[in-house]
Amino acid sequence: MSTQEIIIKLIYLVASVLFIVGIKMLGKTQTARRGNAYSAVGMMLAIVATLLQAEVLSYTEIAVTLLASTAVSLWIARRVQMTQMPEMVALFNGFGGAASMLVALSDYWYRNSQGDTPDITIGTAIVLSILVGAVTLTGSLVAYGKLSGNINGNAIVFKGQHPLNALLFAITIVTGILAVMYPDNLWYLGIVSVISLLLGILTVIPIGGADMPVVISLLNSYSGIAACFTGFILQNEVLIIAGALVGSSGIILTQIMCKGMNRSLINVLLGGFGQTSSGGGGTGKASDIVVKEVGVEEAAMIFDSASSVIIVPGYGMAVAQAQHIVRELTDLLLRKNIDVRFAIHPVAGRMPGHMNVLLAESNIDYDKLVEMEKINDDFANTDVVFVVGANDVVNPAARHDTSSPIYGMPILNADKARTVIVSKRSMNAGYAGIENELFGYPNCLMLFGDAKVSITKLVNELKEME
Ligand code: TAP
Repeated sequence: MSTQEIIIKLIYLVASVLFIVGIKMLGKTQTARRGNAYSAVGMMLAIVATLLQAEVLSYTEIAVTLLASTAVSLWIARRVQMTQMPEMVALFNGFGGAASMLVALSDYWYRNSQGDTPDITIGTAIVLSILVGAVTLTGSLVAYGKLSGNINGNAIVFKGQHPLNALLFAITIVTGILAVMYPDNLWYLGIVSVISLLLGILTVIPIGGADMPVVISLLNSYSGIAACFTGFILQNEVLIIAGALVGSSGIILTQIMCKGMNRSLINVLLGGFGQTSSGGGGTGKASDIVVKEVGVEEAAMIFDSASSVIIVPGYGMAVAQAQHIVRELTDLLLRKNIDVRFAIHPVAGRMPGHMNVLLAESNIDYDKLVEMEKINDDFANTDVVFVVGANDVVNPAARHDTSSPIYGMPILNADKARTVIVSKRSMNAGYAGIENELFGYPNCLMLFGDAKVSITKLVNELKEME
């Protein structure tokens, strides 16, 4: 091994350690920002080390591609709204899968043109990289289409769907084995590619909009697994490690989200569920339950006389960008010696950790953020629960209505508090597209209006009371 190769391997080692430390730090809100920075430095080192490889023939193409892709990413990153993050992540996953597939195909092509037949290990890695990469690409594009509303968010199901998918999968495996056994025949790999692309579409269309977050997290894991296989093809250790990390953390996140929605992964993947979803716009059917409205003045008096408050943030807080004014409200209540905490549901908002990110952005103390399992028993002893743009995550139907699409999903026990005040604009449904019986409960008061506008008025009213 030359000195240059040793240096490259050492840099890869440092990069891999940074990835692992970074990902561990992402597990806690306090260290997440630093963890992200560590991983980014690791990625930069990995890129630099890769560019130092003797195999790099020309830097011009690489420089042009890097500049062009950086420009496009910057343009997209500046335009994308926080609420569009899930569909962005879906696209990223798809591009990751596409990259792995293209690298595998070109490696195979190149070896073939050089008369260098891949051995069984490399051949298997090539087939698997193409299969997983292609499924990730088209599956992610369908997920993107569903989330952005370009494709109908409902589950698309037809008779014989699962047997057809099983048959296509079996054909892919058999053709893949033939591609490894007879590497000179390019047709086999062509068939694997086309059927895998088709499989990606067919496996995601039967999944309804409400289950899309789980699917995206699973596709994220697939993109890592595809990259890992590509690492074996290129014999690149850092790609194997980074791919394995993305693959395994994606699976863990998928499990957490399935638990948050009380669904098994098989149940999600077999599809046909979540048809009632409004597709993420929060514009489901209007409710016909009778509610009690509350004005800002009355709401301020209720807060003023409370000794404990739990704030339940949801997707509407993100839409209204109300997190900063929520922080002002929190500070004000704390000054009045009122105990204030935030109840965080694992799938509140539209992406994992959505509420944590928003509340961290407005510098709300991390200690005030309490996870569902830890706070759920405290609602019954709480004076006021303030629901800010949340809906599905506080819908009691999930506990008892077996016909509800969210039946079985663990929810925040907001309804058990003495008084519940809900800030939302109308009686429109949330993501699951169903009405919320909580709004008609005797202890529930509706504060209608945009959350940012309503809470600003509420804060002013409370200030006048000081
Ligand atoms: P949702 O149930 O989606 O309810 C959000 C509510 O916010 C809507 O009912 C809407 O009512 C209100 N809203 C919208 N804009 C508002 C504004 N400017 N001011 C005040 N309120 C506003 O939200 P949730 O309770 O956070 O539940 C999340 C749902 O999304 C779950 O069903 C979950 O499964 C799903 N989901 C989660 C994720 C992840 S990973 N977190 C990803 C995708 C989907 P109005 O229109 O009446 O204002």
